Amino acid sequence: MSEEPVTSASPEALRALIESRRSVRRFSSEPVPDELIRDCLQMAVLAPNSCNLQPWSFQVIRDPQLLARLHPVCMSQNAAKAPLIIAVLARPDTWRQACENIIEYWPEPEVPGRIRHFYRKTAPFQYNQGPLGILGFCKRQMLRIAALRKPLMRTPNSKAQMRIWAVKSTALAAQNLMLAFQSHGYATCPMEGFDEVRLRKTLDIPREALPIMLLAVGKQGEKGVYNPRLRFPLEQHVTWL
Ligand SMILES: Cc1cc2nc3c(=O)[nH]c(=O)nc-3n(C[C@H](O)[C@H](O)[C@H](O)COP(=O)(O)O)c2cc1C
Repeated sequence: MSEEPVTSASPEALRALIESRRSVRRFSSEPVPDELIRDCLQMAVLAPNSCNLQPWSFQVIRDPQLLARLHPVCMSQNAAKAPLIIAVLARPDTWRQACENIIEYWPEPEVPGRIRHFYRKTAPFQYNQGPLGILGFCKRQMLRIAALRKPLMRTPNSKAQMRIWAVKSTALAAQNLMLAFQSHGYATCPMEGFDEVRLRKTLDIPREALPIMLLAVGKQGEKGVYNPRLRFPLEQHVTWL
C-alpha cells in the first residue's frame, strides 16, 4: 500500500490565503483563463469526500450569452455579472457509477480484495435506497433493531439523507475551489440567491443533481467587497469537551 508523507503548508501561508478570501460582488470583465480554471477544479476535487465516491459535478459557464441569461436567474445580483460562473452540483445519483470508477481508476496494478468487496457489495448496500426509497425505509427499520445491540451507522438511508450525504462532500469541494482561485489572485462569491427552477432549465441540470451554489469568479473590481469582515466570537460556536 502506498504511504504518502504527511506534509504541511506553513500556517502563516494558509492563514494569509484564508484571510484574504472575501465574498466579492463586483468583478472586472477580464476573462479567467481555461487552464487556470482547470487547475482550480483539480484542487477542488482533492477535497475529502464520503467513501471517495466524489458525489459532485461542475458546470463551467464562460459563454457571455449564457452568462447574460443567468443574470436574471440569479436575482440580477451584482456578483452574477462575473466573467465566470461555476455551478457546483451535489450528485446523490452518481454513486453507482463511482463504485465502478474506483475499480477502474485504482492507482495500483492490482485492486485489493477489500476494495473490490467494499465497492461491489458494501457501498451498493449502503447507498441504494431502491425505487421510491422503499429499500431505504426497510433498511431504517432493520437498523433500528440491529442497533439495539451495537453501534451502527444510521445514514444515509433515505433519498433525503442521500441528498445531505452528497451536499456535505460537495460543499468541501466548493470551499477548495474558492481557495484555489484565491491562490491564483482571483476573487469569488458563492451564491445561493438564484431561482432554482429557472436555473435547472437554463443549465439543463439533471433532475437528481442539486445545485448547491453558483460560484462567481473573476478579478476583483472596484469596491468589490461591500462590508468589513464580521464573525461572531468563537466561544459562541465552540464547545470544548
Ligand atoms: C451557501 C452560500 C450562499 C451565499 N449566497 C450569496 C448570494 O447569493 N449572494 C451574495 O452576494 N453572497 C452570498 N454568499 C456570501 C455570504 O454572504 C458571505 O460568505 C458572508 O456574508 C461572509 O462574508 P465573506 O465571505 O466575505 O467572509 C453566500 C455564501 C454561502 C456560503
